[in-house]
Amino acid sequence: MARQIKIFDTTLRDGEQSPGCSMNLQDKLTVAESLASLGVDIIEAGFAIASPGDFKSVQAIARNIRGVTVASLSRALEKDIDASWEAIRDAESPRIHTFLATSPLHMEYKLKKTPDQVYEQAVAMVAYARNLCGDVEFSLEDASRSDLQFMYRVIEGVIAAGASTVNIPDTVGYAVPEEFAALIHSIRNNVPNIDKAVISVHCHNDLGLGVANSLAAAMAGADQIECTVNGLGERAGNAALEEIVMNLYTRKEYYNMTTRIDSTKLWQASKRVSKATGVRCQPNKAVVGENAFAHESGIHQHGVLANRATYEIMTPESIGLPHNKMVLGKHSGSHAFEERLSYLGYRVSEERLKELFDAFKNLADKKKTVSDRDIDAMVGGSLRGIPEAFKLDRFVINSGSSITATSVVRLELRDGSKVEKVAIGDGPVDASLNAVDKIIGGSEIKLEDYSLQIVDATDTGADAQGETHVRISRDGRTWNGGGVSTDIVESSIMAYLSAINAMLFELEQEKTRSAS
Ligand code: KIV
Ligand code: ZN
Repeated sequence: MARQIKIFDTTLRDGEQSPGCSMNLQDKLTVAESLASLGVDIIEAGFAIASPGDFKSVQAIARNIRGVTVASLSRALEKDIDASWEAIRDAESPRIHTFLATSPLHMEYKLKKTPDQVYEQAVAMVAYARNLCGDVEFSLEDASRSDLQFMYRVIEGVIAAGASTVNIPDTVGYAVPEEFAALIHSIRNNVPNIDKAVISVHCHNDLGLGVANSLAAAMAGADQIECTVNGLGERAGNAALEEIVMNLYTRKEYYNMTTRIDSTKLWQASKRVSKATGVRCQPNKAVVGENAFAHESGIHQHGVLANRATYEIMTPESIGLPHNKMVLGKHSGSHAFEERLSYLGYRVSEERLKELFDAFKNLADKKKTVSDRDIDAMVGGSLRGIPEAFKLDRFVINSGSSITATSVVRLELRDGSKVEKVAIGDGPVDASLNAVDKIIGGSEIKLEDYSLQIVDATDTGADAQGETHVRISRDGRTWNGGGVSTDIVESSIMAYLSAINAMLFELEQEKTRSAS
C-alpha cells in the first residue's frame, strides 16, 4: 500500500519571508482557508513572537481554520515558545515548532555556544514546549551541514524530551539528493528512539534542488515534507508544494507514496497565494506556471491533438486549471453562471452571487469571449472579505504624448456619497492614483510596487483583461491589492483602492480591538 506523506505547508511563515511577500491578516486567512481545503496536514501560520501582527494572524488562523494542525515557529527560547503557545492554543490541533542550529558554523558564529550547550538548550526547550502542548516539532537548523554524530545525539535527546516530529532542514539549499537521502537513512539507522517520532524534511532551493532533495528524503523514509505554494521562501525559496504533490501523483508507480492533497485545487491555491503576496510565478514554473500546459511548436501541437499523452504527462484538469472558454454570454442566466463558479471551486452567498453576476454581465458586454481564467480573476480578486471603504464609481482621463495626463476620478464612500477630484500625473495611471490620493487624503501612502499582466496568456484579443497588482506602504507596513479589467487604468485604480481598503480595514480592526 502507498505510504502517506504528511504535507507541512510553510507558505505563511517561510514563504512570507521571501522578499516583498508580506501578507496582511485578511490575506493570510484567505490563504489558510485555501490550504485547508487543499488538504495540507499542517499549516505553519507564522512566527508568533516576530511582531504583534504575526501574533494576531497566527491566532486568527488557529481560531478560525478547522480540520488541520496549526503550527507556530519559535526559537528555542521560553519567551518564543510562550508566544507560540498563546497564539495557537485555541487551534483544533495546535503544534509548537521550535528550532536551534546544530552546524559548527552556526553554533560558533551565530549562537556562540558549544555543542554541549546547544544540546542542553534543545532538550530543555522541547521539554518546556511539551509541557504546554502535546504536539512538538524540533528542527535542527542547518542540519545538512551538521556533524552526524552530534545530530544523532540531539535527535535522541529531543525525542526523549517529547518531540513527536524531528525536522531535518537543508537550510541553505546545499544538499544533493543522494547525499540527503543517505543522511535520512543514517538517522533512521542510528538514532535508537527514532521510531517514536516522524522524520520531516525542509529543503531550500538555492541550487534548484529543493524538490529533488525532499523527494529523495521521502524515498529514504521521511514521512513529512515541508514546502510552500509557488515555492516561496527565504532567498531562492523552499521546495514547491505543487511540484512535490504532482511528482508523487504523476509517478505513483515509482514513489508508491500519496498525500492528502486534492490536486485539483492546486492551481487555485497558487493563484490565491500570488494575489495575496502580489508575486506571480514565472511563466515556465513547473505545474502552475502559465506556460506549464501550453504547446507552442507545431510538432508538439500536432502530437497533442492526435493524443494528449504525447507531450502531456499530467492533464490540466488534474491541477484544476480552468481551460475551456465560457459558453455563457451576456444573455446567459445566473444559474449557468453559478454552475460555472461551482466548477471553478467557488461557493458564494446569494448576495455575493448577485454582485458577481452583475460584474460578469458587465464583462460579457465588453468581451467577446469570457474565459474561465477571466472569471477566476474577477472572483478571486474579490474574495478577500474586505469591506470597501472606497469604491470606484467612474473616471475620465485625458492623456497623450504632448500633453500632461489629467484624470478625474469619482469614488463612492461607505455611506453612498460620492466625491470627485481631478489630478495630473506622469501618465494616465499616475494621474488617476493621484486623484484617488486627493480624495482619501493619502499623502502618507507610498506606492511600493506596481505590475500589470494579461489575465489569460492565450487571450490575444484587444479586449483581453489586464490584472494589476500593487503594494502600498504606510509607516513601514505594507498592503497588497489587485484589480482586473479590460481597461488598464480602471484595473490600476481598482488595485490601488483594494490595497487602501485592506489597509483601512486592518487599521480599523486594530483600533476596535485595542479599545475593547
Ligand atoms: O530553513 C530552516 O532551517 C528553517 C527552520 C526554522 C525550519 O526554516
Ligand atoms: Zn526554511
